[in-house]
Amino acid sequence: MKVAVIGTGYVGLTQAACLAELGNEVIGIDNNSSKIQMLNSGEMPIYENGMKPIVISNMKEGRLKFTTDINEINGSQIIFICVGTPPGSDGKPNLSYVENVANQIGNVLKHYAVIVEKSTVPVRTADWMKLILRNKLKTDFDVAVNPEFLREGTAVDDFFYPDRIVVGTDSPKADAVLSELYKPLNAPILHVSLESAELIKHGSNAFLAMKISYANMFSRLCEKAGADVETVMKGIGLDKRIGESFFRAGIGYGGFCFPKDLDAFVSVLEDHNVDASLLKAVKKLNDSQAEHFVNKIVSVMGSLKDKRIGVLGLAFKAGTDDMRLAPSIPIISKLHSLGANIYAYDPKSMDNAKAIDEFKNINFVSSMCQAVEGCDALAILTEWPEFRDLDFNKVKESTNLIFDGRNMFNINRMRSAGFSYHSIGRK
Ligand code: UGA
Repeated sequence: MKVAVIGTGYVGLTQAACLAELGNEVIGIDNNSSKIQMLNSGEMPIYENGMKPIVISNMKEGRLKFTTDINEINGSQIIFICVGTPPGSDGKPNLSYVENVANQIGNVLKHYAVIVEKSTVPVRTADWMKLILRNKLKTDFDVAVNPEFLREGTAVDDFFYPDRIVVGTDSPKADAVLSELYKPLNAPILHVSLESAELIKHGSNAFLAMKISYANMFSRLCEKAGADVETVMKGIGLDKRIGESFFRAGIGYGGFCFPKDLDAFVSVLEDHNVDASLLKAVKKLNDSQAEHFVNKIVSVMGSLKDKRIGVLGLAFKAGTDDMRLAPSIPIISKLHSLGANIYAYDPKSMDNAKAIDEFKNINFVSSMCQAVEGCDALAILTEWPEFRDLDFNKVKESTNLIFDGRNMFNINRMRSAGFSYHSIGRK
């Protein structure tokens, strides 16, 4: 099929590259010319596992092209809108990029196409988009909602092996076109209305965030009651109705999706006069988890004035270079404001981290060893697998004090190796 993807961020680039890999002819469109230039010269504007080879091979074979010219949507049977919906100051998503794109499509599209909302948006946005398009377009068109469930770091795999594909539309023709497009994935397709599809996306992210806050609430109780949060959550999660995955306590969820989508969904509930206190509590607990971790450090070390703290991991999770709303930001800012000297290392996100205002007074080092060297304590803030290969004999030459915000190590082994090891929800 011929497909256009507008927006080449995490979502759009994955969608464009993976659809080309399935054999479709795809044009990726973005108004950011430096991004398009990078892509056209084979460089990736983001780090995403497994993405570069797919982009390059499909460009070589002529199935994937990138341009800044919106007129290039002409010729496509399907147009995916994958532009950002960043939060406004009131927590509601800013839909101006979606609106702009809808207007641009309205100005240039010359033939029937299925116009698909892929960006995460509040319920009834597709209806509003339809109005914009109807006012401008002289041709027939259909609108559909096809939310993405991609995780950063595993986006390519998530595309090819989805748990489900949600297709929301009121047009049988659009439904047939999208079902055909996704047929090669052999995944269950849920055919729903526009509104239900929009709610499924917000509802999934809010539920996952709730699961994490539930685990974090237990971590606090376990610390006080002398239980182990890892085994408690496993015991709860083994009930198939609950499920073990996405149930790990830590320093709180971060990234660009959960915090923003939760705020947006709270607004949706409130706009519809539905009590949002359940999700507000999820957010409150998450916001205080970073502070809880800092308090743990202070309760063990006392004054942090002139203490050197080595930090391993800055990204909001392993497998990504994304620093957006990473819990490392409030944690490091607070440690620094309490007088600590920070020496931080992350395998992938150093460039992005260096651009962060709150990090302007911290020291970035280029290896795990350098972060550890001479430190009074070590703090682990992202669960990068390579941190498991840490040379603990070397660590001991500097410190025996470890604060692990991701529960990466076996508590008994760490203690019998002589470490004062403090993790989350484990006594
Ligand atoms: C999330 C969803 O998982 C995707 O399904 C969704 O498509 C995406 O948002 C989106 O809306 O675009 P992502 O933001 O990439 O994906 O990150 P996750 O892997 O979901 O992790 C989110 C945060 O939760 C991370 O900070 C992670 O460390 C934390 N987390 C995750 C926990 O603290 N505990 C867990 O058990 C799992």
